[in-house]
Amino acid sequence: MQGKVVVITGASGGIGAAAASAIASRGGSLALVARRETELRAVAERCGENALPVVADVTRRDDVRRVIRAAIEHFGHVDVLVNNVGRGITRLPTSLTDDDIDDMIRINIKSMLYGVQEVVPHFKERGSGHIINVSSILGRMPATPFRSAYNGAKHFLSAITWNIRQELSESVPGVAVSLVSPPVVATEFGVNALHGGPDSRTLPFPQNVDEVGNVIAWVIDTRKLDVYTRPGSKPRVTEFLSKLGEDPPASVLAGQWDAA
Ligand SMILES: NC(=O)c1ccc[n+]([C@@H]2O[C@H](COP(=O)([O-])OP(=O)(O)OC[C@H]3O[C@@H](n4cnc5c(N)ncnc54)[C@H](OP(=O)(O)O)[C@@H]3O)[C@@H](O)[C@H]2O)c1
Repeated sequence: MQGKVVVITGASGGIGAAAASAIASRGGSLALVARRETELRAVAERCGENALPVVADVTRRDDVRRVIRAAIEHFGHVDVLVNNVGRGITRLPTSLTDDDIDDMIRINIKSMLYGVQEVVPHFKERGSGHIINVSSILGRMPATPFRSAYNGAKHFLSAITWNIRQELSESVPGVAVSLVSPPVVATEFGVNALHGGPDSRTLPFPQNVDEVGNVIAWVIDTRKLDVYTRPGSKPRVTEFLSKLGEDPPASVLAGQWDAA
């Protein structure tokens, strides 16, 4: 970690701020990104002199371009981009509007893609780099109907992260692409969700945010590719998915079955 330059989006609070602390305490340098300047500056101050706050809205491509340029100009290069910004929604599938879907894609997908597209030319020049996309356990199993379009956006995020990894493993093999999938975490995520909804901090057994920050710092050190932040998540997802899906019997393929 020592000396690595890490850009973190969504760093004024929650998981991004916790990851920033974990990285700073291990000697990393940070470009910290969010919209609220006061909160962002407070996080940067806690992280020390090697933290640069950059106020930006990552749903705007020009802002993301400015962020990557500012980080390179300030530190000389970037080693890691953590695409952490994301937003939930509280609305059942049959009530979703066009604007709901657009918002979920803009904040959870396009922001990440802008970051990847802006930083990859720099990583190509250097022949190395690391992209970390923060998804969710709901990006592996759509277990909560009230999160609906968020579950869909995080499935999109998980899928396209695997595809970005496949693409870059051929064109720039020195670049690692990691996916990090937390469960419910005790942050303001719930209260910041589109249309409000339950506070993540009051849901049963949320994961401690500092644990998630430590896992992200560990992923930077180890370049692990696909990580849940809470032990026990993988069997939970496997069990959920094992109940879905059924193969047709051979008789159906042959057109020979009796309607029940
Ligand atoms: N907490 C959970 O239960 C949970 C579970 C699984 C996955 N996750 C994922 O973890 C990531 C972080 O979530 P969190 O719990 O830390 O959420 P959070 O507490 O709501 O924090 C979100 C952060 O993103 C920033 N942000 C939001 N929109 C932005 C924009 N357009 N441009 C720049 N910054 C923006 C916010 O700061 P400003 O308002 O200052 O911009 C804030 O720093 C998300 O991808 C989320 O989907 C969270």
